[in-house]
Amino acid sequence: MKDLAGRTAFITGGANGIGLGLARALLTEGCKVAIADIREDSLEAALKTLDNHNVIGVKLDVASREEFARVADEVEERLGPVSLLFNNAGINLFQTIDESTYDDWDWVMGVNLHGVINGIQTFVPRMKERGLGGHIVNTASMAAFLCGPAPGIYNATKFAVRGMSESLRYSLAPQGIGVSILCPGLVKSYIYASDSVRPEGLASRGKPEDKAFTEQLANLHQYGMEPDEVAAKVLDGIRANRFYIFSHPEFKDELREVFDEIIDAFPPQDELDENAKKRVEFEKGRRANYKKARMEARGE
Ligand SMILES: NC(=O)c1ccc[n+]([C@@H]2O[C@H](COP(=O)([O-])OP(=O)(O)OC[C@H]3O[C@@H](n4cnc5c(N)ncnc54)[C@H](O)[C@@H]3O)[C@@H](O)[C@H]2O)c1
Repeated sequence: MKDLAGRTAFITGGANGIGLGLARALLTEGCKVAIADIREDSLEAALKTLDNHNVIGVKLDVASREEFARVADEVEERLGPVSLLFNNAGINLFQTIDESTYDDWDWVMGVNLHGVINGIQTFVPRMKERGLGGHIVNTASMAAFLCGPAPGIYNATKFAVRGMSESLRYSLAPQGIGVSILCPGLVKSYIYASDSVRPEGLASRGKPEDKAFTEQLANLHQYGMEPDEVAAKVLDGIRANRFYIFSHPEFKDELREVFDEIIDAFPPQDELDENAKKRVEFEKGRRANYKKARMEARGE
């Protein structure tokens, strides 16, 4: 998609950080923009800084299917059909999986994974039906590739967002709807303060919040990439219909190292018996189809 002007964009988590950067960039392109966020005070502040009659703010908890559908109706009534969808809202929780409760799982999965699923379930049928094409960007993270012990649940959600986004890309390509994942490293944002939006109903924590660590995180995020720089890279990625939108070049060598370790973990190919020959033949066909799907989704 080359020309974004006049389209309506829906951005979850649009009141801060990356989402706000995206809103600014899309407004500059001449889009109508809805920013959806759970924080009402941030929505108010964001609308004030954006200061543009083409943007509206709507309160939304992305973990709620019902709220998502209601807010989608409201936005489309006010701004017209959404054809640019940014499933970007996310929270972080730094603690290992073995220290986590079901409430920890439900909160992080609810926002980071189900929030994206809800965006897709709400808007994809509408986008398909209207036949206007469009683009979906799901915000994953470099944590969709690189794991540590502490972001355990976060890692699980971002790996899942990566897998479902790639699969969705192939099914929507024939409809002229592109799908990308954004995989940022450190961004100057408010994500370190996630605990303040944790719902009361999911309060049982495996581990009390470490305030000193949160402060450290806040300082670290000051060195993050500016959301406006990330947003500019996202718009480039949409125009080129790229699946992977990597914003932080400093990760390239590390990914190569990790992929090399994965490749090195394969056993050598033994001589094939008759059964194995048939299996390998089947995989050849599947591999050719996968390659074709990737090329077709890129428009090649
Ligand atoms: N900041 C980083 O370093 C970084 C790195 C990689 C990936 N990401 C991802 O980028 C995305 C955006 O995060 P950010 O860094 O801009 O953080 P941010 O906290 O500045 O912005 C996220 C927004 O999402 C909103 N939000 C939280 N829970 C919500 C819910 N249930 N429903 C609706 N809105 C909700 C918050 O109120 C906030 O305004 C997230 O998916 C995050 O995982 C961030």
